[in-house]
Amino acid sequence: MKNSDALVLGIETSCDETAVGIVSGRKLLANVISSSVVEHARFGGVVPEIASRAHLEAMQSVIAQALSDAKVSIKDIDAFAVTAGPGLIGALLVGTSSAAGLALALDKPLYGVNHLSAHIAVDSLNSDHKLDPAIALLVSGGHSSILQINDLTSDVKTLGSTIDDAAGEAFDKIARILELGFPGGPAIDLDAKSGNPNAIDFPRGLTLARDLIEHKYDFSFSGLKTAVARYLAKTPDHLRADVSASFQEAVVDVLLIKAIGAAKETGIDTLIIAGGVAANSRLRSLAQERATKADIQLRIPPMNLCTDNGAMVAALGSLAVTQGLAPSKLGFEANSSSGITTPIF
Ligand code: KG4
Ligand code: ZN
Repeated sequence: MKNSDALVLGIETSCDETAVGIVSGRKLLANVISSSVVEHARFGGVVPEIASRAHLEAMQSVIAQALSDAKVSIKDIDAFAVTAGPGLIGALLVGTSSAAGLALALDKPLYGVNHLSAHIAVDSLNSDHKLDPAIALLVSGGHSSILQINDLTSDVKTLGSTIDDAAGEAFDKIARILELGFPGGPAIDLDAKSGNPNAIDFPRGLTLARDLIEHKYDFSFSGLKTAVARYLAKTPDHLRADVSASFQEAVVDVLLIKAIGAAKETGIDTLIIAGGVAANSRLRSLAQERATKADIQLRIPPMNLCTDNGAMVAALGSLAVTQGLAPSKLGFEANSSSGITTPIF
C-alpha cells in the first residue's frame, strides 16, 4: 500500500448524525449518514441523550452500508479515523469507542480527529489541488471563525471568531422565532428564495470602524437577532419571506466582508468556506461573486459534504496517513470543547 492511496474509514458522531465515510487517499468511495434530526425536532434542538442512543442504534448498519457502497471489506481498511471533539460528549464517546474497538480488533491505526479541521479537510476530496495555505471561513451550528491555514494538520491560526452566537445558531434561533422549524438554516434558505433581501436593512455586527480596532475578524450575531425580534414585534403585517431573505443577507454579507478582507490582507488568495452554513445557497452565490471580483480562488465543498458527514473525518485521517503522522494512542480521550489547534488527538 502507498500511504497516498490508503483506505481510511471515518466515523462522525459529534451531534445528531451517525455518519461513516470511506476514502482511498483523496478519492471518496462511500458517504453514509443516518440522522436523528426528526427525533429532536419537537424539542427545538438536539437532545444529547437521544442523540447518543440513536448513534448506538445506527452505528453497525451505517458502517455495513458504507463498506458495501465502497465495495470493500472491513479487513481491507488500512486506518480508522473518528471525530474526537468538539461535540456532545456522550455522542462523541459512541464514535470513539466504536472506532477504538474496530482498530484494536483489526490491529490497524486509529486517528482521533478534530471535527472543525475535518470540515475543512473535506475540501481535499476528489481533487489534487494543494490544500494550504488558505483562509478558511468555518461556519457551523457551534462555531464561526476565520482561520489562516498554513498547514491543516500542524499550523492553523485563528484570525477571528464569533463573540456570541455561531452563524448556524443564529439561523436556528431566527427560524424558531419565524416558526420555520428545526434545523433553521435550510428552512430559512428556502423561505428566503421568495423574499426580498433588501426589504429590511438589518444590522451587520462588528463592521463599524470603532469595532474593527478590536474585532476586525470577529463576528457578532446577537444584535441582529434582537433587531429581527424587534422588527417582528412592531410590524405585525410583515412578509415572512422578506424577513428571512433580509436576515440571511445580513449574515452572509458580514461573513463575506470579513472572510474576503482576511484573504486580501494576508495576501493568501485562496478562500475555503466550510461547515453546515456553507450549504447556504445565498452564501455560495454571493461568495463566488465577491471572490471573482477580488481575484480570490474560492473553494466550497459540495452541499452534502458541508453539513456533518463521515467523509470529512476520513479525509482528515487520510491526510494524516499521507503525511506519515503518528496515530492517536488507543486511550485518547474525546474532548467536547477541543479547539482547532488540536487537529489530531
Ligand atoms: O456543520 P454542521 O452540520 O454541524 C455542526 O458542526 O454544528 O452545521 C449545522 C448548522 C445548523 O445550524 C444548520 O441550521 C446550518 O448548519 N445549516 C444552514 C444550512 N444548512 C445547514 N444554514 C444556512 N443555510 C443552509 N442551507
Ligand atoms: Zn459540524
